[in-house]
Amino acid sequence: MKKAKVVVIEDTALTLSIILKKLGGMGYDTLGFLSCEDFFPKFPSLGADIVLLDIELPGMSGLNALKKIKEKQQALPVIIITGHGTVERAVEAMKAGAYDFFTKPIDFTKLGVAVKNAVNQYILIREISEIKTKYERSRMGNIIGASPPMQTLYQIIKNVSMSKATVFITGESGTGKELVALAIHGEGPRKNKPFIPLNCAALPKDLMESELFGHEKGAFTGATARKIGCCELADGGTLLLDEICDMEYGLQAKLLRFLQQQKFLRVGGEKFIEVNVRIIAATNKDPLEEIKSGGLREDLYYRLNVVPIHVPPLRERREDIPLLAMSFLKSMSEKNNKKFSRFSPDAIKILVACRWPGNVRELENTIERVVVLNDGAEITEKMLPGKMARQEGTAEFSGVPAKKEIIPLSIMEKDMIRKAVDICNGDLKEAAGRLGIGQATIYRKIKKYGLGK
Ligand SMILES: Nc1ncnc2c1ncn2[C@@H]1O[C@H](COP(=O)(O)OP(=O)(O)OP(=O)(O)O)[C@@H](O)[C@H]1O
Ligand SMILES: [Mg+2]
Repeated sequence: MKKAKVVVIEDTALTLSIILKKLGGMGYDTLGFLSCEDFFPKFPSLGADIVLLDIELPGMSGLNALKKIKEKQQALPVIIITGHGTVERAVEAMKAGAYDFFTKPIDFTKLGVAVKNAVNQYILIREISEIKTKYERSRMGNIIGASPPMQTLYQIIKNVSMSKATVFITGESGTGKELVALAIHGEGPRKNKPFIPLNCAALPKDLMESELFGHEKGAFTGATARKIGCCELADGGTLLLDEICDMEYGLQAKLLRFLQQQKFLRVGGEKFIEVNVRIIAATNKDPLEEIKSGGLREDLYYRLNVVPIHVPPLRERREDIPLLAMSFLKSMSEKNNKKFSRFSPDAIKILVACRWPGNVRELENTIERVVVLNDGAEITEKMLPGKMARQEGTAEFSGVPAKKEIIPLSIMEKDMIRKAVDICNGDLKEAAGRLGIGQATIYRKIKKYGLGK
């Protein structure tokens, strides 16, 4: 295990070396500073688990130093060391958040116990907050959702946001691909630079090329002035190439060249322009199918697909529906001057059961429509669109597949495992036996489908 790190700030070199030696002997990784002026510039990168601070320092007072440490890392424990006759100040320090205080000459046995307890407590606090951010996130940027698939998504966004790696986002229409792209941009070091979304399906080839790379004055009829393209506008920031499979095939080759060289020519230009752009591509189509049918260049796909991210459809994360619905209800009520603040239990049940082929966008639109067309404080079942009322055989509901609907095996499997575990009252061994699969397999699948929580 990694040793805990104790940082000591003490202006008397001899005292400092004694403290460091004693703590080093107790198994800590130690580091000493003779003044706050030396300490603070290094503080953010030290990774300290505890600070021992002499309160009578030249320069910045110990008390101010304590406050400054607490401002930056509130939970980091600080133990105050004082000379004789400065107990009042030590009391003040305790009020300002010090963990404990010791008067000189230091009783190292007692100090050892205090350091150990403080460090253990701090490590625990840190672990809890890490677990919280890992498992209890209910949003990131504008993305809302607390389900296991969303937690995985947040983790990937967090990891990938720090790098410049190209990201390829897939997922059905309305699942939130653009929000994911925006979160990758917003979580990383480029967040204060431009985020430029470009819909690759919106324009014919020639116009798209100039949209992407810009053009020089006179490059073609109608080019009356120089135009700066999205690649240049996004310099330092992020360019989202949305609906990438719809980009014209020839232009895809030019895009690939740009990705490889990080430079391009404006249409009609002769000078290469170099930019530093992070590329994110997105599509609601299946890229491999598109390659087969000739819509997407294979070489471009492999260049873009450095980090693939798949945004799952809403029906695979139904536990997010109440959270999303409440959030949309609040924003739509405010926007439309309505007083809605809740759903009836039946209304929520219907929303959760619906298949939402248009995913979050459809949910958002549905709630907006209901809010606009009704009044009151509570959304009831009756206010929901007629097609959502529970009719047997409707394709809108899961568990009641329409005659022609095909349900993916993975969803059936997940449902079956959930049911089996329910019937066996949580006894996984029995559930595995009755499903006719091994125990290792049921554990693996429970983990895969996020059924363990
Ligand atoms: N997890 C979410 N939390 C909150 N709002 C969401 C979420 N996912 C999607 N939305 C909302 O749903 C709408 C559609 O999202 P977005 O445009 O990102 O989808 P998309 O996957 O890019 O769809 P398309 O493939 O059709 O372009 C937007 O209004 C967005 O704000
Ligand atoms: Mg989109």
